[in-house]
Amino acid sequence: MFIRRIAVIGTGYVGLTTGACLASLGHRVVCADVDVEKVERLTRGEVDILEPGLPELVAEGIASGRLSFVVGAATAVGAHDGGAEVVFLCVPTPMGVGGLADLKAVESVVDECRSLFAEGCVIVNKSTVPVGTTVLTSELLGRPDISVVSNPEFLREGSAVKDFLNPDRIVVGCDDQDAAERVAALYSRLGAPTVLTDAASAEMVKYAANCFLAMKLSYVNAVAELCERLGANISDVTEGMGYDRRIGQSFLSPGPGWGGSCLPKDTHAMLQVADAADFEFRLLRATIDTNDRQRQRMVDKIRLAVTGKRNGSLSHVRIGVLGLTFKAGTDDLRDSPALAVAALLKQAGADLVGYDPAMGVGSSAAVGMDVVDDPYLAAKDVEALVVLTEWPEFRTLDWAKVAGLVRQPVVVDTRNLLDPDVLSRAGLKWTGLGGHR
Ligand code: UGA
Repeated sequence: MFIRRIAVIGTGYVGLTTGACLASLGHRVVCADVDVEKVERLTRGEVDILEPGLPELVAEGIASGRLSFVVGAATAVGAHDGGAEVVFLCVPTPMGVGGLADLKAVESVVDECRSLFAEGCVIVNKSTVPVGTTVLTSELLGRPDISVVSNPEFLREGSAVKDFLNPDRIVVGCDDQDAAERVAALYSRLGAPTVLTDAASAEMVKYAANCFLAMKLSYVNAVAELCERLGANISDVTEGMGYDRRIGQSFLSPGPGWGGSCLPKDTHAMLQVADAADFEFRLLRATIDTNDRQRQRMVDKIRLAVTGKRNGSLSHVRIGVLGLTFKAGTDDLRDSPALAVAALLKQAGADLVGYDPAMGVGSSAAVGMDVVDDPYLAAKDVEALVVLTEWPEFRTLDWAKVAGLVRQPVVVDTRNLLDPDVLSRAGLKWTGLGGHR
């Protein structure tokens, strides 16, 4: 395996994980960020995102001398002797106007570094960008000696390091076969199946995969609703479906809807791209609509559980919320379904108090409700306790103690996380999703 001199531009989830993991594979990696203080913290080995294994990998990389941090893309690109051979662009591509990805950050790195990139280097786009962006970036760059390659990432927050080092596949797209192979070779030690293709197809793989995952979840949430109406049990249904190897057991858990920084952004962007291409992507539209409806469904379920009526009032009803992040194992609140449901509950007049293992009391303003640092405080005097994020520690709460704290013994579990028998023995009335028992 060739050891390459690599620059990684952007030290967010994707950039930092990519940089630290590539260094652990033996490459020499310089990571850049525009945030001076962040670079100082990272240089001291301080990682400020919650990502299992990442702090250890960063510390190892620094100690081995293979990983370092600098301010500014230009510094990173020229930091190695002879310049970086491979430059990874891992800058944010937030949802921009009309649901399309906003590419300002990619453009600004290209502008800043155009004349500084080493001759014949390869630029790799890791960010999720609309189909066509890799070719566009190449045109914008205007350096015939440099190939721009699409190499989408498939990391999940909360297991990014594990996903990077044990990938299901590596996808590399570029019309320049030699550049694509050079990028694929960076990962050769991982032994993953590798798809070498053109740039547009590589970009499409990422969108198609994320939209498919979103569709799988919206489908499961819709089936769960039907299970409730027909007296079936969604857990047995998904287990039975999942043994079919063409379907698989993963990504079949019903919940309050899918969220996070990726699936909502990517589904909207794909829909936008389809519209622009004059293609009516009804299946994807329905996937998004089903997800939007899911949040209101959760509120309806809570309303019924608390008041016993479909149209009961939640005005001044005190509700404890367990879990605020978009999923367990992360401190990320972006597009969190938990916060979306909480906002609807507030709109309906409820008084909320929240607890999340990853959030401190200082986060009250960020989440729009009182946040406490103890789950039992979130249960005190509430008329319902609602689980919105699937943190495993909620399963092992002292439910008898919870029963002694609440004003009404109602627990609504939007993740089917808790053991209904344990709650029932504690005297609590448990409601889950999809007829789960
Ligand atoms: C997602 C994809 O899973 C990654 O493969 C992809 O690389 C990443 O987006 C990205 O584009 O960067 P992530 O956003 O970290 O990863 O989160 P997921 O684990 O996919 O969860 C997304 C949402 O679906 C969460 O709100 C989660 O709670 C929900 N979910 C997931 C369910 O409701 N049920 C499930 O069975 C699984």
